[in-house]
Amino acid sequence: MSVQQPVKEQWGTRIGLVLAMAGNAVGLGNFLRFPVQAAQNGGGTFMIPYFISFILLGIPMMWIEWGVGRYGGRFGHGSVPGMFDVLTDRKKHWAKYFGILGVVMPLVVFIYYTYITSWMLGFSFFSLTGKYFGLGDDVQARAEGVRNFLATYQDVGDTSGVGGWMPILFFALTMVFLGWVLSRGIRGGIEKLALYGVPLLFFFAIVLLVRILTLPPAAASPAEGLNFIWNPDWASLGNARVWVAAAGQIFFTLSVGMGSIQTYASYLRRKDDITLTGLSTAATNEFAEVVLGGTIAIPAAVVFFGVSGAMAIAQGGSFDLGIVAMGTVLGELGGSQIWGFIWFFLLFIAGITSCVALASPTISFLQEEVGMTRRGAAKMVTLLGIGIGLFHIFFLQHGVLDEWDYWAGTFGLVVFAAIEIFLFSWIFGINRGWDELHEGADLRIPAFYKPVMKWVTPAFLAILLVWWGWTEAVPKLMMDGVAAEDVPYLWVARAMMVAMALTGIWLIKRSWARKQLDG
Ligand code: ALA
Repeated sequence: MSVQQPVKEQWGTRIGLVLAMAGNAVGLGNFLRFPVQAAQNGGGTFMIPYFISFILLGIPMMWIEWGVGRYGGRFGHGSVPGMFDVLTDRKKHWAKYFGILGVVMPLVVFIYYTYITSWMLGFSFFSLTGKYFGLGDDVQARAEGVRNFLATYQDVGDTSGVGGWMPILFFALTMVFLGWVLSRGIRGGIEKLALYGVPLLFFFAIVLLVRILTLPPAAASPAEGLNFIWNPDWASLGNARVWVAAAGQIFFTLSVGMGSIQTYASYLRRKDDITLTGLSTAATNEFAEVVLGGTIAIPAAVVFFGVSGAMAIAQGGSFDLGIVAMGTVLGELGGSQIWGFIWFFLLFIAGITSCVALASPTISFLQEEVGMTRRGAAKMVTLLGIGIGLFHIFFLQHGVLDEWDYWAGTFGLVVFAAIEIFLFSWIFGINRGWDELHEGADLRIPAFYKPVMKWVTPAFLAILLVWWGWTEAVPKLMMDGVAAEDVPYLWVARAMMVAMALTGIWLIKRSWARKQLDG
């Protein structure tokens, strides 16, 4: 067995690492997905399973992923297949093949996430030109106006709005920018983007939060919005759906179960702290999500539409609060062009700093297992994003994006996390794992997390998998309730994911044979 240990890039500064990891986690999930999940699942009621999931799933998984990444990086691995291989001391040959999930899933999420991020760039521009403001006589009609504007923007075949070339233009700009950042590498690209982008994002969010909280009451007061999100209805806590939604949100928002944390952590040095730094980035994400994300969109919508009106809007899905309701509300303020720009540009930054993280596992994989240069790999991922992205751009109406989001961005995260924790706590061994996490640690992890990592988190994940799989994934797999005309598109979307995974498995097999690591 000959083990290659290529020289890997490294983070330049600790603050750069913290901001890049925060940029990875803080994304559209914090500002668009979280308020909608909270609103759809009872507000304050949602927050209880949310915090329990944060403590029992999010934090342990996050430490484990930092640990797996840093450990893999020591052997020259920057993507999960290689990391899983060394985690099993190269003895369980199947482990690396499961690792492909940590490459393909972030790639799939990257493909649709970049497109949604590009909408934010488009809406930043349309805010400055005032394009979606004042499209009706009263606030309800104006909200309908924003909804129609968004629908025509999303439908590239509909030329009645801004024309199909506009979303394509903003998508192209986003991809070119991303390709440029990615090709500049860890220090020169991703770390620099985070150093400028993340502080700006927080600054914009805090300014907006102050503006929203000082709004004069209209249909309701901002405090009623806060009351909704912080007042639990204990009776609904028995509803399993709320628990599944809360756990799903924790995974998505912290970017755990995705493969991107591991890749970022692989650029650490052996003695770099991961316990305190990991916890700080998780705390930063929660601040951005609960304090900023929760205090902007919901109270803003409640002020203009009342609690029940805001909840009705949220039922429409992830974009209805963040784009439709917020677009309408910001249009009601003096200086709406600037406020609109601040909101959508902060979303653009949140999205773009997550996009670079989502692309990173594939870039590392291509460098390691295919032998590409970083530049070549960055180009390849950008082109894949554009090529495959065009499929869901043109067939968005058929539910292609939602299909990918479900398998690669929701259910798949839990599947991947379950495999990962099994390898870490049971095959690598919790004692060894615990020591590994504490190499160079600035913080001693509370001892109760050891049994949590060995028993509680795996059991929680197993229950989630069974419950969620039975009630949702199986019907989804069988396409229950899907309109007949959408079925072929969803099959093509699935076939694409499977083809990516099979290509990855073949590349792993080839690479291991070349490096003579198997057998
Ligand atoms: N964690 C990223 C988000 O919240 C993917 O959007």
